[in-house]
Amino acid sequence: MEINGHTRICGLIGNPVEHTLSPMIHNTLAGLLGHNLVYVPFLVEEGRVPEAVTGADALHLLGLNVTVPYKSEVIQCLQEIDDLAKNIGAVNTLVKTAGGYKGYNTDMEGLYRAMKSEGIRLEGEQIVLLGAGGAARAVAYLCAVKGAEKVYMLNRTISKVQAVAEEVNRTVGREVILPMITEDYVKLPERKYLAIQGTSVGLAPHTEDVVIADKVFYEKIKTGFDLIYNPWETKFMRLVRQQGGDAYNGLKMLLYQGIIAYELWNDVSVSEEQAQIVYEKLKEHFT
Ligand code: ATR
Repeated sequence: MEINGHTRICGLIGNPVEHTLSPMIHNTLAGLLGHNLVYVPFLVEEGRVPEAVTGADALHLLGLNVTVPYKSEVIQCLQEIDDLAKNIGAVNTLVKTAGGYKGYNTDMEGLYRAMKSEGIRLEGEQIVLLGAGGAARAVAYLCAVKGAEKVYMLNRTISKVQAVAEEVNRTVGREVILPMITEDYVKLPERKYLAIQGTSVGLAPHTEDVVIADKVFYEKIKTGFDLIYNPWETKFMRLVRQQGGDAYNGLKMLLYQGIIAYELWNDVSVSEEQAQIVYEKLKEHFT
């Protein structure tokens, strides 16, 4: 693609941004779809998010992704916010509108599409969710909205998980999230669960860490999904596999959150074949 007077710009704001894989996702998509678009990282210093968004608007940037630590802070800079993002309380995608930007959360729809592409469903499922931080809270909300039957939400700090469960249950109007302290995994009713690992435990370089190490827990897991993708196989995934379950990392979630953002910016739909091409490229980075 030749950069010329028609080139549109999208980018990522965050701090740090050096290790991002998003330029690979979006620039590959632009190539595949023949769009005159470039995607670049923008390092934004603490306290300068409002200026960054105002500046982006003035420069007619087509869209922005938002990463750590600005996913909540950016909300105050928006013209409009999508309902899902509002309920989650985090925005990772800004789309240019006439008067500013509209905020979306494509992380959760990305997780949903990643699971769907692996044949994992949330509807009617009994789920075990590890963690109660920003990421796990969003997953709890997604599971509730997509019709999970029950989500046993386990966390080291009980007060935190109780607060999240109470809030999500109130928002969706049913008692779907059951808060528990992590040690109580032994009390989980005997059955096979989908387990989602939503803490930061096990992330490189701490690859030997895991929230629950006991094999008794993994005997109850039919499918494990870790939101982490670095390392390629987390300790959590390894323990799931050792007890005969299927395990997936978070790279497809990263892929689909990017694809959904790209679709919003360009009003197109990305085919599964195109998604697969980008996925293979991302994968090369790890294997
Ligand atoms: P994020 O935004 O990535 O979700 P976060 O909000 O800091 O990050 O949340 C981190 C999650 O990982 C929390 O659920 C945290 O448990 P606590 O609520 O008890 O702090 C969990 N976590 C972090 N380190 C942990 C550890 N060593 N053992 C168990 N849980 C841990």
